[in-house]
Amino acid sequence: MAAEAGCIRSVAFCCISKPWTRKYDELNHFLREGSTGKLALLELGVGSNAAAIIRYPFKSANEHGTGGISVVQEHGQRIAVIGATGQVGMSLSKELKKLGHKVLAISRGVSTKNRDQLDILESLGIQLYFQRDLKDVARLACALSGQDVVVVALRANVRLVLELEPPILKAAVSAKVRRFVPDEFGTHTKALDYGVGTLFDAKKNFQEQVYGSGLEWTMIFPGGIFDYFLPNLRLFDKITTFGDLRCMFPTHSIKDIGAISARAITDPRTANKAVQLYANVVNQEQLVRELKLFWPDYPFDFEYVSSETIIHLKNHGDPDRISAKGGAEPDRERHGINYANYVLCRLASLDDPDTLNANDLYPDHVYQKPEQALADPKFVFEKTQ
Ligand SMILES: NC(=O)c1ccc[n+]([C@@H]2O[C@H](COP(=O)([O-])OP(=O)(O)OC[C@H]3O[C@@H](n4cnc5c(N)ncnc54)[C@H](OP(=O)(O)O)[C@@H]3O)[C@@H](O)[C@H]2O)c1
Repeated sequence: MAAEAGCIRSVAFCCISKPWTRKYDELNHFLREGSTGKLALLELGVGSNAAAIIRYPFKSANEHGTGGISVVQEHGQRIAVIGATGQVGMSLSKELKKLGHKVLAISRGVSTKNRDQLDILESLGIQLYFQRDLKDVARLACALSGQDVVVVALRANVRLVLELEPPILKAAVSAKVRRFVPDEFGTHTKALDYGVGTLFDAKKNFQEQVYGSGLEWTMIFPGGIFDYFLPNLRLFDKITTFGDLRCMFPTHSIKDIGAISARAITDPRTANKAVQLYANVVNQEQLVRELKLFWPDYPFDFEYVSSETIIHLKNHGDPDRISAKGGAEPDRERHGINYANYVLCRLASLDDPDTLNANDLYPDHVYQKPEQALADPKFVFEKTQ
């Protein structure tokens, strides 16, 4: 099982029941030191019903200079995705399925909005489970029984985070799932102080409940999804920029976010860790410049929302009205988000001690680049409903 420089080798493990964390650290250390692949046959416990696939570009200086292990992936885990018909949930479910996991897609029921997504999930062989009232803990616990990981990827607003996530967590504890993935998938709320915005406070408050639950947890912080963070006329009527145009932030396509999340939530290394995606780090000034270079003849209209306006609206904006096109959050919440991202420049964080950089965890992943999206007329111009 010798490994050639730069090649990706796979080693399968099966059904080892010892606690895996310490063993994993030993293995990781050994591979980083440059041993042969044989050592990968160390006892690496990976859970009750799974095999682990370990692939490593051995001693090659990969893109991010880590050498060592590229991928550790438990295989064949059972993952429940609550909100599987949504933008994050859908991408995540597809990628989990590609990795060979068994996905349970949980939805409130068939509607005109989610019918197509449910069809796609079903056509991929993903099992569907419907529960209209996610507050029914006993019923949800039955559905979650036997699952290894529960992911919440619901439309997040303060009301839903406060009302739905605590009973979902209760059901996960009662069902004895191993790992819980709370509804984050945005700004690095764990590294933020309380008081930045109402949605983030609700998410932070729920994180404390997760820590107290006794379950393993993983939080995914993907930076901004391209659709909202790259200049485009699909989700915006004008090219709209916010606050500090030089704030640096990471942004990724929904497909990349699904792919990295799928690997991260099933990875032994990310137990009780946050994972920050950090591949495309950009600022608004540069993105608008690139947009104009790709479409020099198009007469874009521009709108700028100043830091002062954001601060005013985060404190006094309408707490109930959703005015943003494609928006999920009421205006006050939305400007709390803009405040963190574009005034404080805190969309992402690599400083948090519990946060791992996805570039180090999965150096083999090739991300779509912002310029590829900006060069695509469909991405920039095609109107959505
Ligand atoms: N990083 C970013 O740029 C970014 C952007 C947007 C969102 N996010 C974050 O990503 C996470 C997932 O958001 P998303 O945009 O993927 O969600 P979404 O697509 O808006 O919704 C996900 C699913 O939630 C369910 N849902 C909708 N309204 C609900 C309600 N009132 N009660 C219960 N369930 C409801 C629906 O599933 P069913 O109808 O099938 O039940 C829907 O398909 C959130 O935490 C959000 O803050 C991040």
